[in-house]
Amino acid sequence: MDFEQLYGEAEGRAAAAESSRALYEVKTDYLGRTGKVTALLKGMRDLLAEERPAFGKRINDLRARLEAMFASFEETARERELAKKLQSEAIDVTMPARRHAKGALHPITRTRQELIDIFAGMGFEVFEGPEIETDYYNFTALNTPADHPARDMQDTFYITDEFLLRTQTSAGQIRLMEQKKPPIKMLSPGRVFRSDDDATHSPMFHQMEGLVVDKGITLCDLKGMLDEFARTMFAETAKTRLRPSYFPFTEPSVEVDVSCSACGGKGCSLCKGTGWIEVLGAGMVNRRVLENCGVDPDEYTGFAFGMGIERIAMLKYGIGHIRLFTENDVRFLRQFKD
Ligand code: PHE
Repeated sequence: MDFEQLYGEAEGRAAAAESSRALYEVKTDYLGRTGKVTALLKGMRDLLAEERPAFGKRINDLRARLEAMFASFEETARERELAKKLQSEAIDVTMPARRHAKGALHPITRTRQELIDIFAGMGFEVFEGPEIETDYYNFTALNTPADHPARDMQDTFYITDEFLLRTQTSAGQIRLMEQKKPPIKMLSPGRVFRSDDDATHSPMFHQMEGLVVDKGITLCDLKGMLDEFARTMFAETAKTRLRPSYFPFTEPSVEVDVSCSACGGKGCSLCKGTGWIEVLGAGMVNRRVLENCGVDPDEYTGFAFGMGIERIAMLKYGIGHIRLFTENDVRFLRQFKD
């Protein structure tokens, strides 16, 4: 057997192998368990004892040369394949990215969030009551018994005699005071329902209720917080004014106006020439309401306020019709992107 010829043939085949895999097959053909070199070793059995050592050495030399030769081809094949892989997986970082269209928060969600941020900064905690309420929480406990004329102030959707869709988040005042003893600083956002429908009223809208109960709370505390709210929500120069009003659950009760941010208080079409815009109802918590919740009105006083979130958003963003909030017209909604 001509070893040189065998080596030459192996080298030729290795050089022609196009991949690591093909190269491995060639290698196995020579150095594998049933390969050509192994066959040579087996052939030693037929030799005379004295011929064996020299022959064995030649085979070992041949094997070593073959191994080195294959190793070097393997190295080149690996490098070639790595280069190919890197090239095919290359990323062009200068290519413009594919844009994902991003949504925006609904103006009501956004306004609600802004209100929570303002009052959370003053130490208020958020409490959410149920949308289906009992007559007791929505009216009776709020000092509005069944025959009370103030029930006519709100057109109520009744489900049964006992259950109704809440007409005001004020119901949450009772639920919270039943659970928690003063000091209380609560903010209660949520949907409310009234049988009402025109440019500024819709049968479903959102309110933000506020309740503070502690020792020594006065109307001045309410006024101070409302001023802070108006400055943060509308304009640094915004002012508030209180007008006497009536709610069964507050005494005294007030209607709160904010100076018109469109004209700065001079009078314009938005404020109908008055310079003021009504934004919410408020007052000192009625003694009867505190009593109904087991809070001693001689020890504690409090104030409450309730505002329509749609109304605040309409004033802040100059929105003319309340229906725009529920029509889901993207041309409207898109304008609230940051
Ligand atoms: N609940 C009243 C309404 O819906 C608003 C209000 C809340 C007034 C709290 C006074 C105190 O009109």
